[in-house]
Amino acid sequence: MQEQKTNMDTIVSLCKRRGFIFQGSEIYGGIGGFWDYGPLGVELKNNIKRAWWRAVVQERDDVVGLDAAIIMNPTTWKASGHVDTFADPMVDCKSCKRRFRADQLEGDRCPECGGELTEARMFNLMFKTFVGPVEDDASVAYLRPETAQGIFVNFENVVTTTRKKLPFGIAQIGKAFRNEITPGNFIFRDREFEQMEIEYFVRPGTDEELHRHWVDERLGWYRRHGLSDSNIRVRRLEPEEQAHYAKDTFEIEYLFPMGWSELEGIANRTDYDLGRHAEFSGQPLKYFDDETNEHITPYVIEPSAGVDRSVLAFLFDAYAEEEVRGEKRTVLRLHRALAPIKVAVLPLSRNEALTPTAREVWAKLRKHFMTQYDDAQSIGRRYRRQDEIGTPYCVTVDFDTLEDKAVTVRDRDSMEQERAPIEGLAEMLRNRIEGDG
Ligand code: GLY
Repeated sequence: MQEQKTNMDTIVSLCKRRGFIFQGSEIYGGIGGFWDYGPLGVELKNNIKRAWWRAVVQERDDVVGLDAAIIMNPTTWKASGHVDTFADPMVDCKSCKRRFRADQLEGDRCPECGGELTEARMFNLMFKTFVGPVEDDASVAYLRPETAQGIFVNFENVVTTTRKKLPFGIAQIGKAFRNEITPGNFIFRDREFEQMEIEYFVRPGTDEELHRHWVDERLGWYRRHGLSDSNIRVRRLEPEEQAHYAKDTFEIEYLFPMGWSELEGIANRTDYDLGRHAEFSGQPLKYFDDETNEHITPYVIEPSAGVDRSVLAFLFDAYAEEEVRGEKRTVLRLHRALAPIKVAVLPLSRNEALTPTAREVWAKLRKHFMTQYDDAQSIGRRYRRQDEIGTPYCVTVDFDTLEDKAVTVRDRDSMEQERAPIEGLAEMLRNRIEGDG
């Protein structure tokens, strides 16, 4: 098996140390499968979501956005098939009482204590809750296990209000919840997670071609935003691996330390969902095709990406340790669009002659970008701190600045430094940060 050169502990420790990701409810000992994004993590995650939205909604004329409620009428989940089939086989250890996914076990004994295991039972992964003050069967609702269904139930609303013609898509980013039997691998398999999903509605018969289109689109997006070719691949699922709604699925996989694992599934869901919702709701959910003068149920191509998994993949791919002039430097070579902090402003020292100018420069730049101001410790250490969190540019204010009204701009990747006038600095940095590539 090919392996990632960086191990999981290195990334987990960087995330905690620098404020990307913390264990959920840490002061109470945590809670399995839930994670909190810290000050840098929320920026990285928002930047990933923004880059996705930009590529699939803003820059396309055939996809519109949606933000549907997390809790839906529970009939939704009967129609979608999740009440009946969204389950994993689970076994319990009769000695230590631990619970495992039967399909992930290698032998027939408990991997923790060697004890005897129970027969496998199906365990539904949806979290249940109650709506309203009465906790009875009639008030049971589910936290959505996928954002997709919020899109399907709004199909008619979006067609009517936007008058989109086939093929067109609806995109949504939002939280989803799965009561995984064995969460793990940090934020890779968590119980509360975020999805970026598109349901792309197409004429039956064009589905296979458009399926390939979306695989290429999405692969291109990951590559453009920094994932290296050797760490990313596409795999077509075997028939027995397909979800209950899918005719065919391609996975975009990333080479994590635990091996190739899914970043995004791109499924052909056919007319399964619209058909089922029409049946359960009694609403027609058809599209009038003015090319053929027929009412049809479109097929659906669904690129479904995990935000948290993307965060993890971008961190792994960006992470590097290298030696610079005899010293170790840790650098996150995040794509500029994804970097949490774009520019750090660093006065050469805390000398009071420099502070007002440095603060003025900072005030100018922070209107445009996420910035940090750092005047603690040596300039070399401050560069290293910014490298480690992936800041593409450091701006240093020194004594010459007071004379020439210029600063030193240092590039994270090449570590080259150049002099640039304060006048026009924000524009110069913007061109670089937002430039192609
Ligand atoms: N909507 C596809 C998935 O959540 O896996």
